Amino acid sequence: MKKERLIDPEVEDNSESEEEISLRPLSLDDYIGQSQLKENLRIFIGAAKKRNETIDHILVYGPPGLGKTTLAYVVGHEMGGDVKIVNGPSIEKPGDLAAILTTLKPGDILFIDEIHRLPRVVEEILYGAMEDFTLTLIIGKEDEARNVSIDLKPFTLFGATTRPGDLSSPLRDRFGIVSRLDYYSDEELTKIVQRTSRVFSMGISEEAARMIAIRSRGTPRIANRIYRRVRDFASYNDTTYIDENLTLEALNKLKIDALGLDDIDSRYIRTIIKRFNGGPVGLDTLASAIGEEVNNLEEVYEPYLLKLGLINKTPRGRVVTEKAYQHFSIDLFTKD
Ligand code: ADE
Repeated sequence: MKKERLIDPEVEDNSESEEEISLRPLSLDDYIGQSQLKENLRIFIGAAKKRNETIDHILVYGPPGLGKTTLAYVVGHEMGGDVKIVNGPSIEKPGDLAAILTTLKPGDILFIDEIHRLPRVVEEILYGAMEDFTLTLIIGKEDEARNVSIDLKPFTLFGATTRPGDLSSPLRDRFGIVSRLDYYSDEELTKIVQRTSRVFSMGISEEAARMIAIRSRGTPRIANRIYRRVRDFASYNDTTYIDENLTLEALNKLKIDALGLDDIDSRYIRTIIKRFNGGPVGLDTLASAIGEEVNNLEEVYEPYLLKLGLINKTPRGRVVTEKAYQHFSIDLFTKD
């Protein structure tokens, strides 16, 4: 059986199944985790509503799968506006952005995923739109060129990025609320799995939910994906209750590692140990040795390996820790 890939590359088209949408919480009360940001948002939303204004522009950053889009839906729902979702690189020309901005109603949210990949010409017309809800376009060429200003309805821009450092400072400075999303704790992910199971009208024991949580790399998207596979085993066995035995059997059959590591994590660690003697090795060299993109390793894989304490970044390159040798049962001295 082909091993299932548990991490999505950043989605390009944002199309989602009905099922995925129904899994999303709609209120702050139902949104689990990210407690500090949640409590701040509660105040900003409450204050904006009392003043009958839109909430300030919001920028969230962090690894993929931590609920950036979910949070935009929650804010939209709490504010009573619609949420329009677009992907940064798909807005190629100022006219594309104008077409989107002019359809927004008062209080709507424009969610731009991968906002660091917006073309510069588009980014520049976003500044005015964010600052005073006016859109200034240049119409015509050369001698005929003139500026046209269009008034927009008050809206909230919700930007999301996995690479906050790639955002230009003029754009970053125009967000009133900037926050990092953190990995979820096992307890939070257990609650998310229990909630997902309720949405699917399935029973699940707390221990079974925890077993899934532990293997989900601190990431709700992965927890929900593993949950769906475990649910398949339950349905196949004609049961509507997921217990520890069924979950363990499913996890073993799916070859999901006890720390939730997948094939690429394993190749990352094993390559450093076997080919580079445990490191240090530069990221470019490592990426070509395992045939993966540098960006993917840096944004998706390394943050979690660092969090688990399996690798360290040093000025001379990446090194694995003793914990990595133990996890993969490799002898520190013989490398076997
Ligand atoms: N599903 C995905 N992310 C979630 C979250 N943070 N809270 C509740 N359900 C979720």
